[in-house]
Amino acid sequence: MQNILVTGGAGFIGCNFVRYMLDKYPDYTIVVYDKLTYAGRLENLQDVQAQHGSRLRFVQGDICDAAAVDDAIGAHDIDAIVNFAAETHVDRSIMSPDAFIQTDVYGTYVLLEAARKAGNLRYHQISTDEVYGHIHGDHRSLESDSMAPRSPYAASKASGDHMVNAYYITYGLPVTISRGANNIGPFQYPEKVVPLFVTNALNNMALPVYGDGKQMRDYQYVIDHCSGIDVVLHEGVMGESYNIGTGKEMTNLEMVEILLDALGKPRSLIQHVEDRQGHDRRYCMNVNKLMALGWEPEYTHEEAIRATVRWYVDNQWWWEPIRNGEFKEYYQRLYGNRKVIG
Ligand code: NAD
Ligand code: TYD
Repeated sequence: MQNILVTGGAGFIGCNFVRYMLDKYPDYTIVVYDKLTYAGRLENLQDVQAQHGSRLRFVQGDICDAAAVDDAIGAHDIDAIVNFAAETHVDRSIMSPDAFIQTDVYGTYVLLEAARKAGNLRYHQISTDEVYGHIHGDHRSLESDSMAPRSPYAASKASGDHMVNAYYITYGLPVTISRGANNIGPFQYPEKVVPLFVTNALNNMALPVYGDGKQMRDYQYVIDHCSGIDVVLHEGVMGESYNIGTGKEMTNLEMVEILLDALGKPRSLIQHVEDRQGHDRRYCMNVNKLMALGWEPEYTHEEAIRATVRWYVDNQWWWEPIRNGEFKEYYQRLYGNRKVIG
């Protein structure tokens, strides 16, 4: 493996992965293939480009465009595909699911078909713990658990996973899947809860906590996710899925308190608002299968939240233009008329 096509590489996790891989493997070349939707930004890659020059190439394109995908694979002698490209925000999937079905389902099919036609290229699919749905009691999702997605986003990602498995079984395509927990860290679009709350708090705006805020999530630092993907890409067994998370969980309110304390902002900024429709109460995964390959997370939840807060405090240049653009209209649509409940 030497020439990797990283789809969605201009987004949050993708750009961190590109940085991680180019630093770690001096003989690898990466081609980022990205449509540059609202969530994809060339600024996310500008420091990597400056550091690694021609080892990083960029192609603007849609993963649903089969001819453009084939061209990118042929032109750059690609031997592996890592697919991050997706519509990723649950609240947007509730407002308008269409793009989720297009990119996360049909787009995944297009990439699998391109990998097959190019001679069964190595294919890795980036998936999510949300495919397991809401997790009851103290169970931690195992890779062998059935998928039970509940939001349009989660259902589209689960469909992608099914298609990846189908290409392994039917055509023998060398595939792996990794299912990440809630990632946080540099370059995350401020619609997701942690960057939304940090940037709201820095602007002294209320933090809209959905419902009682006692939903459980595993907030994982993005670099730990990237190192886990690297291990699966190189050491994973073909046809297998691997969970990537800390294996621990915390409530949203606990996350908010750490975040506000790190910023020195008052708890009075917390505002409970009407809950998300179909809100999954708890995600938590068992990550022993990946740990058995020698991987270990480095950041605790608290360290991950603090490191993320620091990055947003230091990188206002990155998020301020975003918050003043398309985001304003989105924010008004989602939060403008939302009922305050306490
Ligand atoms: P993101 O929304 O920040 O970035 C998505 C990227 O995909 C953007 O650069 C966008 O331009 C690109 N893209 C979207 N549609 C495209 C299309 N049709 N063709 C080409 N490019 C397209 O997302 P993220 O948070 O970095 O997530 C990356 C992947 O990781 C996704 O597959 C997501 O499901 C998965 N994941 C995310 C998390 C998380 O907490 N953010 C957790 C687990 C898994
Ligand atoms: P999010 O970052 O959207 O990730 P996901 O829904 O994929 O887990 O949300 C994380 C948690 O934070 C989730 O329980 C929903 C909650 N949340 C809020 O309470 N308020 C908000 O404004 C947002 C965006 C999320």
